[in-house]
Amino acid sequence: MTTRNIEKLLKDEDAAYSEVQELRKVFSNFGCLMDNVSVKSKAGALERAVSVLQSFFGKLDWRTRFQSMDAGHGIGHLTRDYVNALMLFSKLETRPKDIFIGFLGGVLHDVGCALVHRFEESHRVVRHAEAAALFLKETLYDVGLNEAETLLVSYSVAAHTHYLRESEVKCSDGVTRKVRPYDDIAHFGPLWPVWYTRWVDRLDCNGPCFIPRHYLTLTDDHKDFAGEDVGFVQFKFADQMRPLLRPKEEQNNPPQTMLEHAKMFAESQSNDSPYGKYDFGRMIELRSEFREILEHIIYKVKNPRQSEGEDRQWHIQRFTNFLSDTVEPSCSGERAAANLEIQFKKLPAVNQDAWFSGFETVITDYTLWFLRCQVVLDQIPPNWLTLPGVTNDLRDFISGSSEPR
Ligand SMILES: [Fe+2]
Ligand SMILES: [Fe+2]
Repeated sequence: MTTRNIEKLLKDEDAAYSEVQELRKVFSNFGCLMDNVSVKSKAGALERAVSVLQSFFGKLDWRTRFQSMDAGHGIGHLTRDYVNALMLFSKLETRPKDIFIGFLGGVLHDVGCALVHRFEESHRVVRHAEAAALFLKETLYDVGLNEAETLLVSYSVAAHTHYLRESEVKCSDGVTRKVRPYDDIAHFGPLWPVWYTRWVDRLDCNGPCFIPRHYLTLTDDHKDFAGEDVGFVQFKFADQMRPLLRPKEEQNNPPQTMLEHAKMFAESQSNDSPYGKYDFGRMIELRSEFREILEHIIYKVKNPRQSEGEDRQWHIQRFTNFLSDTVEPSCSGERAAANLEIQFKKLPAVNQDAWFSGFETVITDYTLWFLRCQVVLDQIPPNWLTLPGVTNDLRDFISGSSEPR
């Protein structure tokens, strides 16, 4: 299937929705399909997953498309997903077959953001996760996956958004359709590749990147999914940037702020939450480290140092550069960062000062995270550092010194 064909399918929600119902049947056959995953060792799983990804992105050639994705879910997120997958799976003790499917699902889970715009999702039933899955189902065979592996990766990607409850959506064609959680949520025991896909995504929704990614999505006032309790809500920049931390029941006027959202994510990084209930081993190490970082950033926003007026320009310029050079080095990242800088300067000085304290902490904690990653990345085979059409060297990309666009 070409990119143009999938876009045509996605315009017809009835047709796309029935394809998704077919894909959901993978659940009842998951164990048998896993028997057909063709890897024997952990080293073999990692090596094959990297090779598949390199072929996939090489053939895809979405260089232009990557420049215009939603800035919070673009090439920066994709590349950090690859880094996080390497950080996680190189030290996770588990079945090689689960690693293989989970690694691919983890890195590919958001490619649908290049097919469905995030801000259209409140009027769609087939959203970025399932759009990606439908695309992968038709293309992964072309980069060496067998039929079972293709279905398993596609299913894992479709299920990554991890909706916990059923809801209804009035689609842009006027038809109301049901958004159903994936069956594995209620299943007795985890389907590991599906959970590993979600784990990789979670790692970039936590730690030093939660705030800059969320901030990038605020470039235009929009409706976005804000969690199971509230569903889709209207996001307005000035409201989002109020440095409030209210009890959950008072988060309505304005709705949950960026800081409150960050706190909710930090608190969900535990085995007591529906998202972290199966975490073990290496995942617990990484999520705990990231939770601490996110809590540190929240603390610094709530406890800022007094900022002098003339420092404000320096601070905002530094964060704008960090966003467009490091967090989302694409044309859409650059545009969003510049637009946000203009909006930021209109905020009350006291709110700006709170966030300057947070932004500085983000940059410092990100740099420390990058240095820890570098130690691991220096030990992997050098040819794993390249993703064709994405980056020639992962280390340059995440350090913010990649080649110009
Ligand atoms: Fe996603
Ligand atoms: Fe994601």
